[in-house]
Amino acid sequence: MNNPYLPIPMIIKRITNETTAKDIKTFELAFLNKEDEKIFSYLPGQFAEISVLGAGEAPIGIASSPTEKGILKFTVKWYEKGVVTNALHNLFTGDEVGIRGPFGNSFQSKNIIGKSVVVIGGGFAFTTLRSLTTYMIHHNNRNKFKNITVIYGARSPDDLIYKKELEEWAERDDVKLYVTVDKGDKGWKGREGFVPTVVGEVAPSAQGAVAIICGPPVMIKFTIPKLVELGFSPENILNSLEMRMKCGIGKCGRCNIGNKYVCKDGPIFSLAELNDLPKEY
Ligand SMILES: Cc1cc2nc3c(=O)[nH]c(=O)nc-3n(C[C@H](O)[C@H](O)[C@H](O)COP(=O)(O)OP(=O)(O)OC[C@H]3O[C@@H](n4cnc5c(N)ncnc54)[C@H](O)[C@@H]3O)c2cc1C
Ligand code: FES
Repeated sequence: MNNPYLPIPMIIKRITNETTAKDIKTFELAFLNKEDEKIFSYLPGQFAEISVLGAGEAPIGIASSPTEKGILKFTVKWYEKGVVTNALHNLFTGDEVGIRGPFGNSFQSKNIIGKSVVVIGGGFAFTTLRSLTTYMIHHNNRNKFKNITVIYGARSPDDLIYKKELEEWAERDDVKLYVTVDKGDKGWKGREGFVPTVVGEVAPSAQGAVAIICGPPVMIKFTIPKLVELGFSPENILNSLEMRMKCGIGKCGRCNIGNKYVCKDGPIFSLAELNDLPKEY
């Protein structure tokens, strides 16, 4: 039996700076062993524990899509006091890291197949939504979903991540993409305004649709009432929770809310499920 505490060795193939401040980087990792690559299977929404030797491990959402074979992508923000994320930001291509996972449920576990999907992201929490969008628009999967709407906002144009992909998605006629920034700069010709306001303006139809939100708590707080106003039921509003986690496998008790473990039962919960939990999140 596999030891769930044993990290899989991976090598850093590419590091992309998402912002000019270089505080958000995407790490593209390749498996060191072919056997690990064959066994590792995941769906959008899941996360992994990434470990850096001498620093420890931290849960990070998987930003790549299962349709991107042979690699895993993780987009990580640098925090001055974040031990693991700081150590990761000091690594180079060719360096080794460990990963354990995949952990948690996926967006798919919430029955999104066959529905219209409204993806709503704020800031760098867009990572697993990038995974989901890339997965849904892949030619093998596009016909499994009806309308796809992506509403994504960041504080400034430079804070937007995955800029190249946003341009590619904007060109497609099978995705409606709305990118917004809180405040533009001189070169910005796009939309300005907060994500919840844009959700109200775009007014995606709730008919046969599910809304998936990932972002800072304040964005989620103001987006949910807009979705309720548009007719989305609590079962069709999905939210990914970020909690302090350690083991990722329901053993350490660091992430429980009531009788649920976010690492095992989540991190994706519908609003209906959250309404039934103690208000600790
Ligand atoms: C399911 C899940 C998915 C996640 N996905 C991502 C992801 O895709 N990318 C990503 O960058 N992070 C992600 N995180 C958050 C990440 O796991 C935490 O930021 C984690 O604490 C980083 O570990 P560390 O060892 O660097 O920080 P620690 O050493 O544990 O943190 C030390 C201190 O740094 C500060 N700090 C660290 N992280 C944060 C934070 N997020 N916000 C504010 N202050 C902070 C706090 O003061 C904290 O007490 C995710 C978390 C979960 C649970
Ligand atoms: S992280 Fe250990 S129980 Fe969830």
